[in-house]
Amino acid sequence: MSTVLLAGGAGYIGSHTAVELLAAGYDVVIADNYSNSCPEAVKRVEEISGKSVRTYECDIKDSAELDRIFSENSIDAVIHFAGLKAVGESVAKPVLYYRNNIDTTLSLLESMERAGVKRIIFSSSATVYGEENPVPYTEEMPRGTCTNPYGWTKVMMEQILEDAARADKELAVVLLRYFNPIGAHPSGRIGEDPQGIPNNLMPYVSQVAVGRREKLTIFGNDYDTPDGTARRDYIHVVDLAKGHVKAIGYVLEHSGVEVFNLGTGTPYSVTEIVDTFEKVNGVPVPHVYGERRPGDLPESYANADKALAVLGWQTEKDLSDMCRDAWNWQKNNPNGYNK
Ligand code: NAD
Ligand code: WQD
Repeated sequence: MSTVLLAGGAGYIGSHTAVELLAAGYDVVIADNYSNSCPEAVKRVEEISGKSVRTYECDIKDSAELDRIFSENSIDAVIHFAGLKAVGESVAKPVLYYRNNIDTTLSLLESMERAGVKRIIFSSSATVYGEENPVPYTEEMPRGTCTNPYGWTKVMMEQILEDAARADKELAVVLLRYFNPIGAHPSGRIGEDPQGIPNNLMPYVSQVAVGRREKLTIFGNDYDTPDGTARRDYIHVVDLAKGHVKAIGYVLEHSGVEVFNLGTGTPYSVTEIVDTFEKVNGVPVPHVYGERRPGDLPESYANADKALAVLGWQTEKDLSDMCRDAWNWQKNNPNGYNK
Protein backbone atom coordinates (compact mmCIF):
# COMPACT_ATOMS: atom_id res chain seq x y z
CA MET A 1 0.00 0.00 0.00
CA SER A 2 1.15 3.55 -0.64
CA THR A 3 2.78 5.79 1.96
CA VAL A 4 1.57 9.36 2.43
CA LEU A 5 3.57 12.15 4.10
CA LEU A 6 1.32 14.50 6.05
CA ALA A 7 3.14 17.83 6.43
CA GLY A 8 1.38 19.54 9.33
CA GLY A 9 -0.32 16.23 10.07
CA ALA A 10 -0.59 16.74 13.85
CA GLY A 11 -3.07 19.59 13.35
CA TYR A 12 -6.86 19.60 13.34
CA ILE A 13 -7.50 18.47 9.76
CA GLY A 14 -4.27 16.47 9.43
CA SER A 15 -4.97 14.30 12.49
CA HIS A 16 -8.47 13.43 11.25
CA THR A 17 -7.09 12.71 7.79
CA ALA A 18 -4.42 10.43 9.29
CA VAL A 19 -7.15 8.36 10.98
CA GLU A 20 -9.10 7.96 7.71
CA LEU A 21 -6.00 7.16 5.62
CA LEU A 22 -4.91 4.50 8.14
CA ALA A 23 -8.43 3.03 8.14
CA ALA A 24 -8.26 2.85 4.34
CA GLY A 25 -4.98 0.90 4.54
CA TYR A 26 -2.44 3.63 3.72
CA ASP A 27 0.79 4.05 5.64
CA VAL A 28 1.20 7.50 7.10
CA VAL A 29 4.25 9.59 8.06
CA ILE A 30 3.64 12.84 9.96
CA ALA A 31 5.99 15.84 10.00
CA ASP A 32 5.07 18.81 12.18
CA ASN A 33 6.81 21.49 14.23
CA TYR A 34 3.90 21.59 16.72
CA SER A 35 3.63 25.37 16.34
CA ASN A 36 -0.16 24.93 16.51
CA SER A 37 -0.53 21.34 17.71
CA CYS A 38 1.09 18.77 20.02
CA PRO A 39 2.46 15.20 20.01
CA GLU A 40 -0.53 14.05 22.07
CA ALA A 41 -2.72 14.44 18.96
CA VAL A 42 -0.57 11.89 17.11
CA LYS A 43 -0.69 9.51 20.09
CA ARG A 44 -4.47 9.65 19.94
CA VAL A 45 -4.46 9.01 16.19
CA GLU A 46 -2.49 5.84 16.97
CA GLU A 47 -4.93 4.95 19.75
CA ILE A 48 -7.99 5.35 17.47
CA SER A 49 -6.44 3.49 14.56
CA GLY A 50 -4.53 0.84 16.50
CA LYS A 51 -1.56 1.50 14.21
CA SER A 52 1.71 3.28 14.78
CA VAL A 53 2.66 6.41 12.90
CA ARG A 54 6.24 7.44 12.15
CA THR A 55 6.51 11.05 13.29
CA TYR A 56 9.12 13.77 12.75
CA GLU A 57 9.26 16.98 14.77
CA CYS A 58 10.59 19.37 12.17
CA ASP A 59 10.01 22.61 10.36
CA ILE A 60 8.71 22.04 6.83
CA LYS A 61 10.70 25.07 5.70
CA ASP A 62 13.88 23.11 6.58
CA SER A 63 15.11 21.45 3.36
CA ALA A 64 17.70 19.26 5.08
CA GLU A 65 15.04 17.82 7.40
CA LEU A 66 12.72 17.19 4.49
CA ASP A 67 15.46 15.47 2.50
CA ARG A 68 16.06 13.20 5.50
CA ILE A 69 12.36 12.30 5.71
CA PHE A 70 12.23 11.47 2.01
CA SER A 71 15.42 9.40 2.23
CA GLU A 72 14.24 7.43 5.29
CA ASN A 73 10.78 6.65 3.92
CA SER A 74 9.43 5.56 0.57
CA ILE A 75 6.90 8.37 0.15
CA ASP A 76 4.37 8.07 -2.70
CA ALA A 77 2.44 11.29 -2.11
CA VAL A 78 2.43 14.36 0.12
CA ILE A 79 -0.48 16.21 1.70
CA HIS A 80 0.55 19.75 2.60
CA PHE A 81 -1.43 20.94 5.64
CA ALA A 82 1.46 22.86 7.24
CA GLY A 83 0.51 26.49 7.46
CA LEU A 84 -0.47 29.31 9.75
CA LYS A 85 -4.19 29.98 9.45
CA ALA A 86 -5.40 32.75 11.75
CA VAL A 87 -6.87 35.47 9.56
CA GLY A 88 -6.58 38.31 12.10
CA GLU A 89 -3.00 37.38 13.03
CA SER A 90 -2.08 37.38 9.34
CA VAL A 91 -3.13 41.03 9.12
CA ALA A 92 -0.92 41.89 12.12
CA LYS A 93 2.02 39.67 11.07
CA PRO A 94 1.90 39.43 7.27
CA VAL A 95 5.61 38.69 6.80
CA LEU A 96 5.44 35.76 9.21
CA TYR A 97 2.51 34.35 7.22
CA TYR A 98 4.11 34.82 3.82
CA ARG A 99 7.41 33.37 5.08
CA ASN A 100 5.88 30.33 6.72
CA ASN A 101 3.17 29.43 4.25
CA ILE A 102 5.07 30.10 1.01
CA ASP A 103 8.43 28.71 2.21
CA THR A 104 6.91 25.44 3.42
CA THR A 105 5.42 24.98 -0.05
CA LEU A 106 8.66 25.84 -1.89
CA SER A 107 10.81 23.63 0.36
CA LEU A 108 8.42 20.73 -0.06
CA LEU A 109 8.38 21.08 -3.86
CA GLU A 110 12.20 21.24 -3.99
CA SER A 111 12.69 18.21 -1.74
CA MET A 112 10.02 16.29 -3.62
CA GLU A 113 11.87 16.97 -6.85
CA ARG A 114 15.18 15.76 -5.39
CA ALA A 115 13.47 12.63 -4.08
CA GLY A 116 11.49 12.01 -7.28
CA VAL A 117 8.13 12.30 -5.49
CA LYS A 118 5.56 13.57 -7.98
CA ARG A 119 2.24 13.76 -6.17
CA ILE A 120 0.99 16.49 -3.86
CA ILE A 121 -2.35 17.50 -2.38
CA PHE A 122 -2.60 21.03 -1.06
CA SER A 123 -4.89 22.40 1.68
CA SER A 124 -6.38 25.40 -0.04
CA SER A 125 -9.41 27.36 1.04
CA ALA A 126 -12.69 28.81 -0.16
CA THR A 127 -11.10 32.15 0.68
CA VAL A 128 -9.40 32.11 -2.78
CA TYR A 129 -12.78 32.88 -4.41
CA GLY A 130 -12.36 36.35 -2.90
CA GLU A 131 -15.00 39.03 -2.90
CA GLU A 132 -16.03 39.08 -6.55
CA ASN A 133 -17.43 35.64 -7.29
CA PRO A 134 -21.12 34.87 -6.75
CA VAL A 135 -22.17 31.92 -4.55
CA PRO A 136 -22.26 28.98 -4.96
CA TYR A 137 -18.60 28.84 -5.95
CA THR A 138 -17.52 26.53 -8.77
CA GLU A 139 -13.93 25.46 -9.35
CA GLU A 140 -13.47 27.14 -12.72
CA MET A 141 -14.23 30.61 -11.32
CA PRO A 142 -11.15 32.88 -11.29
CA ARG A 143 -9.38 33.40 -7.98
CA GLY A 144 -10.60 36.68 -6.51
CA THR A 145 -9.38 39.49 -4.28
CA CYS A 146 -8.68 38.41 -0.71
CA THR A 147 -9.24 40.64 2.32
CA ASN A 148 -6.20 39.43 4.30
CA PRO A 149 -2.62 38.07 3.91
CA TYR A 150 -3.67 34.54 4.95
CA GLY A 151 -5.99 34.38 1.96
CA TRP A 152 -3.30 35.77 -0.35
CA THR A 153 -0.87 33.05 0.75
CA LYS A 154 -3.42 30.47 -0.43
CA VAL A 155 -3.86 32.27 -3.78
CA MET A 156 -0.08 32.45 -4.25
CA MET A 157 0.53 28.83 -3.27
CA GLU A 158 -2.15 27.64 -5.72
CA GLN A 159 -0.36 29.64 -8.43
CA ILE A 160 3.06 28.21 -7.47
CA LEU A 161 1.74 24.65 -7.56
CA GLU A 162 -0.01 25.19 -10.90
CA ASP A 163 3.17 26.66 -12.43
CA ALA A 164 5.25 23.75 -11.09
CA ALA A 165 2.85 21.25 -12.65
CA ARG A 166 2.86 23.15 -15.94
CA ALA A 167 6.64 22.88 -16.07
CA ASP A 168 6.86 19.23 -14.97
CA LYS A 169 4.34 17.08 -16.81
CA GLU A 170 4.87 14.21 -14.37
CA LEU A 171 3.83 16.29 -11.38
CA ALA A 172 0.32 15.63 -10.06
CA VAL A 173 -1.26 18.41 -8.00
CA VAL A 174 -4.67 18.40 -6.32
CA LEU A 175 -5.86 21.67 -4.81
CA LEU A 176 -8.56 21.05 -2.20
CA ARG A 177 -10.55 24.16 -1.35
CA TYR A 178 -11.99 23.56 2.10
CA PHE A 179 -15.06 25.46 3.20
CA ASN A 180 -15.69 25.68 6.99
CA PRO A 181 -14.54 22.48 8.74
CA ILE A 182 -16.10 21.93 12.18
CA GLY A 183 -16.85 19.03 14.52
CA ALA A 184 -14.53 16.28 15.65
CA HIS A 185 -13.95 12.54 15.48
CA PRO A 186 -16.99 10.83 17.07
CA SER A 187 -14.69 9.11 19.61
CA GLY A 188 -14.11 12.54 21.22
CA ARG A 189 -10.35 11.78 21.32
CA ILE A 190 -9.18 14.22 18.62
CA GLY A 191 -10.60 17.62 17.73
CA GLU A 192 -9.85 21.30 17.21
CA ASP A 193 -7.66 22.77 19.96
CA PRO A 194 -7.13 26.48 19.28
CA GLN A 195 -4.54 28.38 21.33
CA GLY A 196 -5.91 31.40 23.20
CA ILE A 197 -9.18 33.04 22.21
CA PRO A 198 -10.71 31.13 19.28
CA ASN A 199 -11.04 33.01 15.99
CA ASN A 200 -13.52 30.61 14.48
CA LEU A 201 -17.18 30.22 15.31
CA MET A 202 -17.55 26.59 16.43
CA PRO A 203 -14.67 26.49 18.93
CA TYR A 204 -15.95 29.75 20.38
CA VAL A 205 -19.49 28.33 20.69
CA SER A 206 -18.12 25.16 22.39
CA GLN A 207 -15.99 27.14 24.83
CA VAL A 208 -18.99 29.29 25.79
CA ALA A 209 -21.07 26.15 26.30
CA VAL A 210 -18.41 24.58 28.54
CA GLY A 211 -18.05 27.79 30.57
CA ARG A 212 -14.57 28.84 29.42
CA ARG A 213 -16.00 32.04 27.83
CA GLU A 214 -18.91 34.12 29.06
CA LYS A 215 -20.84 34.69 25.83
CA LEU A 216 -20.64 34.56 22.06
CA THR A 217 -20.81 37.75 20.03
CA ILE A 218 -22.57 37.18 16.71
CA PHE A 219 -20.81 39.44 14.22
CA GLY A 220 -23.60 41.29 12.41
CA ASN A 221 -27.32 40.61 12.01
CA ASP A 222 -27.99 43.10 9.24
CA TYR A 223 -26.68 41.04 6.29
CA ASP A 224 -28.88 40.44 3.27
CA THR A 225 -29.51 36.81 4.30
CA PRO A 226 -32.71 35.05 5.48
CA ASP A 227 -32.12 35.82 9.20
CA GLY A 228 -29.63 38.68 8.81
CA THR A 229 -26.59 36.69 10.04
CA ALA A 230 -23.82 35.50 7.71
CA ARG A 231 -24.04 32.09 6.06
CA ARG A 232 -21.23 29.54 5.60
CA ASP A 233 -20.76 26.04 4.23
CA TYR A 234 -19.88 24.10 7.41
CA ILE A 235 -18.45 20.65 6.77
CA HIS A 236 -17.83 17.85 9.28
CA VAL A 237 -14.07 17.33 9.63
CA VAL A 238 -14.49 13.55 9.22
CA ASP A 239 -16.25 14.07 5.87
CA LEU A 240 -13.43 16.43 4.92
CA ALA A 241 -10.83 13.83 5.95
CA LYS A 242 -12.57 11.20 3.80
CA GLY A 243 -12.35 13.65 0.89
CA HIS A 244 -8.55 13.44 1.27
CA VAL A 245 -8.65 9.65 1.01
CA LYS A 246 -10.52 9.98 -2.29
CA ALA A 247 -8.11 12.69 -3.45
CA ILE A 248 -5.10 10.47 -2.64
CA GLY A 249 -6.60 7.72 -4.78
CA TYR A 250 -7.01 10.26 -7.56
CA VAL A 251 -3.57 11.90 -7.33
CA LEU A 252 -1.83 8.50 -7.42
CA GLU A 253 -3.45 7.78 -10.78
CA HIS A 254 -3.35 11.16 -12.57
CA SER A 255 -0.95 13.95 -13.47
CA GLY A 256 -1.56 17.68 -14.00
CA VAL A 257 -3.60 19.98 -11.77
CA GLU A 258 -7.11 19.38 -10.50
CA VAL A 259 -9.12 21.60 -8.16
CA PHE A 260 -11.96 20.42 -5.91
CA ASN A 261 -14.29 22.22 -3.56
CA LEU A 262 -14.78 20.26 -0.34
CA GLY A 263 -18.02 21.55 1.10
CA THR A 264 -21.60 20.34 1.53
CA GLY A 265 -23.18 22.87 -0.82
CA THR A 266 -25.67 23.90 1.89
CA PRO A 267 -25.13 27.14 3.82
CA TYR A 268 -26.17 27.71 7.43
CA SER A 269 -26.36 31.01 9.28
CA VAL A 270 -24.60 31.82 12.55
CA THR A 271 -27.98 31.77 14.30
CA GLU A 272 -28.77 28.33 12.89
CA ILE A 273 -25.44 27.03 14.22
CA VAL A 274 -26.13 28.38 17.72
CA ASP A 275 -29.74 27.10 17.74
CA THR A 276 -28.76 23.62 16.51
CA PHE A 277 -25.88 23.37 19.00
CA GLU A 278 -28.22 24.26 21.89
CA LYS A 279 -30.94 21.88 20.71
CA VAL A 280 -28.92 18.72 19.98
CA ASN A 281 -26.69 19.09 23.03
CA GLY A 282 -29.21 20.48 25.52
CA VAL A 283 -26.79 23.23 26.64
CA PRO A 284 -27.27 26.99 26.52
CA VAL A 285 -24.95 29.20 24.45
CA PRO A 286 -25.41 32.75 25.77
CA HIS A 287 -24.96 35.21 22.92
CA VAL A 288 -25.32 38.85 21.93
CA TYR A 289 -25.36 40.60 18.56
CA GLY A 290 -22.44 42.87 17.70
CA GLU A 291 -20.89 44.71 14.77
CA ARG A 292 -19.93 42.97 11.56
CA ARG A 293 -16.34 41.62 11.59
CA PRO A 294 -14.20 43.49 9.01
CA GLY A 295 -13.45 41.39 5.93
CA ASP A 296 -16.37 38.96 6.44
CA LEU A 297 -18.52 38.06 3.45
CA PRO A 298 -22.30 37.75 3.82
CA GLU A 299 -22.26 34.27 2.26
CA SER A 300 -19.76 31.60 1.23
CA TYR A 301 -20.75 28.15 0.02
CA ALA A 302 -19.69 25.53 -2.46
CA ASN A 303 -21.07 23.91 -5.51
CA ALA A 304 -19.82 20.43 -4.55
CA ASP A 305 -20.81 18.65 -7.79
CA LYS A 306 -17.28 18.19 -9.16
CA ALA A 307 -15.96 16.23 -6.17
CA LEU A 308 -18.94 13.87 -6.47
CA ALA A 309 -18.59 13.47 -10.24
CA VAL A 310 -14.80 12.98 -10.35
CA LEU A 311 -13.84 11.64 -6.92
CA GLY A 312 -17.11 9.93 -6.00
CA TRP A 313 -17.06 11.90 -2.73
CA GLN A 314 -19.95 13.52 -0.95
CA THR A 315 -20.61 14.47 2.64
CA GLU A 316 -22.50 12.03 4.86
CA LYS A 317 -22.90 14.00 8.09
CA ASP A 318 -25.42 16.75 8.84
CA LEU A 319 -25.36 19.85 11.01
CA SER A 320 -26.63 17.95 14.06
CA ASP A 321 -23.71 15.51 13.76
CA MET A 322 -21.28 18.45 13.49
CA CYS A 323 -22.68 20.12 16.63
CA ARG A 324 -22.92 16.88 18.59
CA ASP A 325 -19.33 15.84 17.80
CA ALA A 326 -17.93 19.31 18.47
CA TRP A 327 -19.54 19.23 21.92
CA ASN A 328 -18.47 15.64 22.61
CA TRP A 329 -14.83 16.68 21.99
CA GLN A 330 -15.14 19.88 24.03
CA LYS A 331 -16.85 18.39 27.08
CA ASN A 332 -14.45 15.42 27.23
CA ASN A 333 -11.41 17.70 26.76
CA PRO A 334 -12.43 21.05 28.28
CA ASN A 335 -8.87 22.35 27.90
CA GLY A 336 -8.12 20.59 24.65
CA TYR A 337 -5.12 18.26 24.60
CA ASN A 338 -4.00 19.79 27.91
CA LYS A 339 -6.90 17.72 29.35
P1 NAD B 1 -3.81 23.46 12.24
O1 NAD B 1 -3.11 24.70 12.67
O2 NAD B 1 -4.53 22.67 13.24
O3 NAD B 1 -2.78 22.49 11.47
C1 NAD B 1 -1.67 22.98 10.77
C2 NAD B 1 -0.46 22.21 11.27
O4 NAD B 1 0.71 22.66 10.58
C3 NAD B 1 -0.21 22.40 12.77
O5 NAD B 1 -0.04 21.15 13.38
C4 NAD B 1 1.08 23.23 12.83
O6 NAD B 1 1.85 22.93 13.97
C5 NAD B 1 1.74 22.80 11.53
N1 NAD B 1 2.70 23.76 10.97
C6 NAD B 1 2.52 25.07 10.66
N2 NAD B 1 3.65 25.59 10.15
C7 NAD B 1 4.57 24.59 10.13
C8 NAD B 1 5.92 24.51 9.71
N3 NAD B 1 6.58 25.57 9.23
N4 NAD B 1 6.57 23.33 9.84
C9 NAD B 1 5.92 22.24 10.36
N5 NAD B 1 4.64 22.26 10.75
C10 NAD B 1 3.97 23.42 10.64
O7 NAD B 1 -4.80 23.88 11.06
P2 NAD B 1 -5.89 23.02 10.28
O8 NAD B 1 -7.21 23.62 10.58
O9 NAD B 1 -5.67 21.59 10.49
O10 NAD B 1 -5.53 23.43 8.79
C11 NAD B 1 -4.69 22.64 7.97
C12 NAD B 1 -4.51 23.36 6.65
O11 NAD B 1 -5.78 23.58 6.06
C13 NAD B 1 -3.84 24.74 6.78
O12 NAD B 1 -2.99 24.92 5.67
C14 NAD B 1 -5.02 25.69 6.70
O13 NAD B 1 -4.64 26.94 6.19
C15 NAD B 1 -5.93 24.95 5.74
N6 NAD B 1 -7.33 25.35 5.87
C16 NAD B 1 -7.94 25.26 7.10
C17 NAD B 1 -9.27 25.66 7.24
C18 NAD B 1 -9.94 25.64 8.58
O14 NAD B 1 -10.95 26.32 8.75
N7 NAD B 1 -9.43 24.90 9.56
C19 NAD B 1 -9.98 26.10 6.12
C20 NAD B 1 -9.33 26.17 4.89
C21 NAD B 1 -8.01 25.78 4.77
C1 WQD C 1 -17.89 31.87 10.56
C2 WQD C 1 -19.05 32.83 10.78
C3 WQD C 1 -18.37 35.03 11.47
C4 WQD C 1 -16.81 33.97 15.41
C5 WQD C 1 -12.37 31.41 8.22
C6 WQD C 1 -11.33 31.86 7.23
C7 WQD C 1 -11.37 30.98 6.01
C8 WQD C 1 -11.23 29.52 6.39
C9 WQD C 1 -12.15 29.12 7.51
C10 WQD C 1 -9.15 28.89 7.60
C11 WQD C 1 -18.76 34.22 10.23
C12 WQD C 1 -19.18 34.35 12.55
C13 WQD C 1 -17.37 33.90 14.15
C14 WQD C 1 -17.52 34.65 16.44
C15 WQD C 1 -19.30 35.09 14.89
N1 WQD C 1 -9.84 29.29 6.65
N2 WQD C 1 -18.60 34.45 13.88
N3 WQD C 1 -18.74 35.18 16.14
O1 WQD C 1 -14.55 33.59 8.63
O2 WQD C 1 -16.06 31.93 7.44
O3 WQD C 1 -13.64 31.48 7.60
O4 WQD C 1 -12.10 30.06 8.60
O5 WQD C 1 -8.11 28.40 7.60
O6 WQD C 1 -10.33 31.36 5.16
O7 WQD C 1 -11.61 33.19 6.84
O8 WQD C 1 -14.99 31.29 9.63
O9 WQD C 1 -15.52 30.39 11.86
O10 WQD C 1 -14.30 32.62 11.69
O11 WQD C 1 -16.70 32.48 11.03
O12 WQD C 1 -20.41 35.58 14.67
O13 WQD C 1 -17.04 34.77 17.59
O14 WQD C 1 -19.24 32.99 12.20
O15 WQD C 1 -18.67 36.39 11.38
O16 WQD C 1 -19.96 34.72 9.71
P1 WQD C 1 -14.87 32.21 8.30
P2 WQD C 1 -15.32 31.68 11.13
